[in-house]
Amino acid sequence: MEKISKLIAAIVRSEFGVDLTSSVSISDGEHGDFSTNVAMQIAGRVGASPRDVAEKIVAKLDLDAEIAGPGFINITVSGRWLNDSLNDEWSEKFGENRDGAGKTVVVEYPSQNVAKPYSVGHLRPGNQGWAARNLMLATGWRVITDNHLGDYGAPFGIWVVGFRKFSSPEKLAEGGVYELGRVYVAMKAELKEEEKRGEHTLSDRVQEWLLKLESGDAEAVEYSQKFNEISLDHIHEVMGRLGISTEHELGEAFFAPRGKAEVQNLLDAGIAVKNPDGSIIVHLDEYGIKTPVLLQKSNGAALYATTDLATLKYREEQWHPDRVIYAVAAEQKFYFEQLFALAKKIGIKTELIHMWFGLIDQMNKDGTREKMSSRKGVILMEELLDQAETTARQNAKSPDMSDNDIRKIALGAIKFTDFSKDRRTNILFNWGSMFSLTGFSGPYVQYAAVRVNKILRDNIATPPAAISAKYNFEAEREVLKKLIEYPNTIKQAADSLEPHRVAQFAYDLARVVNRYYENTPVATAGVDADTKAARLGLLAKTAQVFAHSLNILGIEIPERM
Ligand code: ARG
Repeated sequence: MEKISKLIAAIVRSEFGVDLTSSVSISDGEHGDFSTNVAMQIAGRVGASPRDVAEKIVAKLDLDAEIAGPGFINITVSGRWLNDSLNDEWSEKFGENRDGAGKTVVVEYPSQNVAKPYSVGHLRPGNQGWAARNLMLATGWRVITDNHLGDYGAPFGIWVVGFRKFSSPEKLAEGGVYELGRVYVAMKAELKEEEKRGEHTLSDRVQEWLLKLESGDAEAVEYSQKFNEISLDHIHEVMGRLGISTEHELGEAFFAPRGKAEVQNLLDAGIAVKNPDGSIIVHLDEYGIKTPVLLQKSNGAALYATTDLATLKYREEQWHPDRVIYAVAAEQKFYFEQLFALAKKIGIKTELIHMWFGLIDQMNKDGTREKMSSRKGVILMEELLDQAETTARQNAKSPDMSDNDIRKIALGAIKFTDFSKDRRTNILFNWGSMFSLTGFSGPYVQYAAVRVNKILRDNIATPPAAISAKYNFEAEREVLKKLIEYPNTIKQAADSLEPHRVAQFAYDLARVVNRYYENTPVATAGVDADTKAARLGLLAKTAQVFAHSLNILGIEIPERM
């Protein structure tokens, strides 16, 4: 596509003296391989009819081209032409580009809260954030990743009071983060009851422990270290299972004290204002936002926005990013509008992006669809992963599949579901189809990749010969056309932060390749050496693109399936 765009751009320049700033847009032709409406685009500018413009272009184009309608140009190329143009572009890093060269991006994910076990609420931020990281890397950015842990505020106090009331060191040793979660939920319920009664003994105690922690009280610090360690170990373990990680892990607790100092600066500068009750806000009317952002409570406590204010400043000072991507659920859309307006108001020019997601639905046995939950309420990530592994094992064709391959397939199914549609749409967990080897699923694509890899492995002895000029690549047309699209897919997915475009591509490639060897013997007896080398060469390229695209999505290719 790149090649054909350039060809046409060159003709347009020499014939009409028009410099097309963007590359010529080429689409899959309905009649032919490619089509372009460039003649219509420039006709007005050069003062000729689209049809005349198209005719001039076609006359110069050394390819089989036809004009349709008011001036569409439909181009048909040979298989050999496709192969040669793919070869021209081919590299070890085929698909990557340098759009982001010299620029720095901070990508923030999955930013769980430490108080409770990792739940599916942070599945999409993790998967999509990881894919965003990979897309930025594939387009040449310098990438810094940060897990903005929700580890500040009341949870600590609630844990301590709840632990002393409902739990014991033995129970904690046994249940770990699940015991902490149980204590947290039970304590929250008690606090609610207490509030209803109009009392505040327990909530006072929660505040006391928070103050103790702030003042460095030894017992409070010990509790905090113990609980955080349990929770963090859990978070790391589950992130490991999901195959995601971040370089930094600067949570809200790290930023809270800095946030308070920043709030004071904003007060001094007259940007923030103190209300009569002592709370501190920043007005955002000039950005079309009626609700001011609350930066400090009347009792002086730091808030979510306080920590984010400090986070913004810290990232500017430490990393000088050109862009920050926050992979966070859609619920926080308004909050991020406020935060980004606040950033503008304090002079931060960095591009700030809230990469948000639709909800996760589940398909019930009776065919109805609802927000994903379990009888106990929210679904835990470990349960989800366990269930996916169990299902992967049940569906496995061969009984001796390795645990590692099972794990890859389970993750492939989960992640592909996440990337099944535009990230802003709700996704559906349907255990019946997520593992389907015939439909749109991770395992379907993985299976296609495994098959390609196997053919290559079985024929490893075949040297990659130079293909003779007489091999015409007509049987390979569809695969070649798909592969040629890959760099543009990556570009678009990165520009729009839409990893599902990569998933869609990988699925389409799998389909095209499956159809290819239904009809085309690659390395069976009777295939002559020239043909075999040509076909294996194509499969090697296909294997590389499968590996690259699935890697962007955080999906690994099993050894066997
Ligand atoms: N911990 C938050 C949550 O789970 C997400 C944090 C998002 N990042 C941020 N910088 N505010 O809701």
